[in-house]
Amino acid sequence: MRSGVLIRRMINTDYEGLVCLWKKFAGNTMTGADSPEGFREFLSNNGDFCFVAVENDRVAGSVMAGHDSRRGYIYHLAVDESLQGKGTGTALMSAAESALRNAGIEKAHLFIYSDNTAIKFYEKTGWHTRHDIEVMSKVLIGEKYLGTRVRE
Ligand SMILES: CC(C)(COP(=O)(O)OP(=O)(O)OC[C@H]1O[C@@H](n2cnc3c(N)ncnc32)[C@H](O)[C@@H]1OP(=O)(O)O)[C@@H](O)C(=O)NCCC(=O)NCCS
Repeated sequence: MRSGVLIRRMINTDYEGLVCLWKKFAGNTMTGADSPEGFREFLSNNGDFCFVAVENDRVAGSVMAGHDSRRGYIYHLAVDESLQGKGTGTALMSAAESALRNAGIEKAHLFIYSDNTAIKFYEKTGWHTRHDIEVMSKVLIGEKYLGTRVRE
């Protein structure tokens, strides 16, 4: 990882910088869970598993992870384009995976659009694509999916 980049726990005041970062990537869908309240709630439950990469006091990378005491889940992995390819994504995932492992979580999952080239990144860092499972979803609040891909 490039020197001068610090990986630390995510905190509530990172929110604005994170939204700025996430909006740049079509692969990071923003949903109702990304409202300020949703963000705070997720951090209050899963703060031990969420990390940011900071360069020059600027949030330049993120990963939000959590678990339901059975499986871990990874959300919002992102690294600013200016920092990509220098090990920051790997360092963020390592931090999240270690934290989940330390909490006794044996396996983690993540959702990724099938056309996202970040699949290659995950393969390089030990993740594998499942071909024996389909993802099924149901909207429980609201009339339609809140999620939109920010750049098609
Ligand atoms: C995926 C992402 C976080 C990787 O961050 P990064 O800091 O560039 O990752 P690293 O530098 O640790 O890369 C580790 C390895 O993966 C490779 N890699 C990273 N992103 C890649 C991509 N999009 N396609 C192919 N290979 C990739 C790197 O080249 C490197 O390979 P090497 O070890 O052979 O040199 C970053 O590309 C990103 O923010 N993408 C947009 C957001 C996104 O789609 N996130 C996933 C949402 S599910």
